[in-house]
Amino acid sequence: MRVLILGGDGYLGWPTAMHFSALGHEVLVVDNYLRRRIAKKTHSEPLIEGGDLATRTALYENVLGTHIDWLELDLADPESMFHAVKTQRPHAIIHYAEQPSAPFSMMEFDAARLTLNNNLNVTFNLIWAVLQECRDAHIIKLGTMGEYGTPNVDIEEGWIEIEHKGRRDKFLFPRQAGSLYHTTKVLDTDLLWFYVRTYGLQVTDLMQGPVYGLSTDQADKDHGLAPNFHYDDIFGTVVNRFIVQAVASVPLTVYGKGGQTRGYLNLKDTLQCVHLATQHLPGTGQMRILNQITETFSVCEIAERVKSVGNAMGLNVDIKSIPNPRKEAEMHYYNPSYSGLKEMGLQPHYMTDEVLAEMLEAVLRHRNRIDREKIMPRVQWS
Ligand SMILES: NC(=O)c1ccc[n+]([C@@H]2O[C@H](COP(=O)([O-])OP(=O)(O)OC[C@H]3O[C@@H](n4cnc5c(N)ncnc54)[C@H](O)[C@@H]3O)[C@@H](O)[C@H]2O)c1
Repeated sequence: MRVLILGGDGYLGWPTAMHFSALGHEVLVVDNYLRRRIAKKTHSEPLIEGGDLATRTALYENVLGTHIDWLELDLADPESMFHAVKTQRPHAIIHYAEQPSAPFSMMEFDAARLTLNNNLNVTFNLIWAVLQECRDAHIIKLGTMGEYGTPNVDIEEGWIEIEHKGRRDKFLFPRQAGSLYHTTKVLDTDLLWFYVRTYGLQVTDLMQGPVYGLSTDQADKDHGLAPNFHYDDIFGTVVNRFIVQAVASVPLTVYGKGGQTRGYLNLKDTLQCVHLATQHLPGTGQMRILNQITETFSVCEIAERVKSVGNAMGLNVDIKSIPNPRKEAEMHYYNPSYSGLKEMGLQPHYMTDEVLAEMLEAVLRHRNRIDREKIMPRVQWS
């Protein structure tokens, strides 16, 4: 397969590029280093960061012997997007290229405007590049479980049948996001669904939960191939943040009551899910939505797990509730369906004590680089 990976310098994009290349596919990654620039501007540089794409792809070729092509382009610019799509003539396009930080999107006007314009323009340009250059290509779009919010009813996999005044129809499951970033994902979904039902594109929209981990088969071969690993309040996801806090002896920052429950998955499973999506085409004119998580936890449950594994390793881990900077339910019902990817063959890597211990060990090797100034939340929702 020829695969185009948009956002291929990112936490998920780079491991995905290596994964597909190692499986023998022709891979082109595109990125404009937006995340690296925002990280620098907001003092949120990661604990672990590989070189730029020139450096990483050269190292990858040296270590694994296969080649990954790359381009530095701003995909929010239509000409750049068209150029990327024409260059690769892809069978599958994996779209990660968005501003993914909820706190950044809530920081101030310029950050909000950047998030809205960047995310929607990349998706819109991609749709039109596919329509005009490679109509049969399969778009695999990374959405988020955060699109659904935390409704007081079970969350279905993308769609819901509704009976109203004696008649039935199927609709997108209601969405109510908790940040502007998550709202851009809702808008992406709507935009894709419009073009799918009107122009017959084929799209898989993956509602992914927060990802954790830094180990993959290829990344483990050389420390220079590691994914960027954030622990700050802007780009860090909760499990990765707690692991670093545990190593730095900073009490784990539970926001408010800590009953916020979400679906999580291991980085290795993101790679599996995206690959499974490429192997199972939704079909022309189909928008397939899959909930990409493997298990659910509350924030308190994750904190307790990290504390117990950290203390068993001789660390001094404590947990502290701090005022919640976000507007969100701290105790709520949460029951999402997520059988679709398992039915396609996903073999989950669960958050076991061994997995948490391996993450703690990996972070311990970089403990002298931890900057405690980056740990506490710096952005309030209002
Ligand atoms: N990491 C998670 O836990 C998680 C969970 C759910 C959904 N997602 C989604 O998965 C995708 C990837 O997430 P990630 O954690 O790897 O984020 P990331 O910020 O590490 O990667 C995104 C990449 O896209 C690039 N990018 C953004 N705008 C671009 C543009 N206009 N042109 C070219 N490149 C651009 C960035 O520079 C970055 O390298 C995002 O869309 C995110 O919303 C991530």
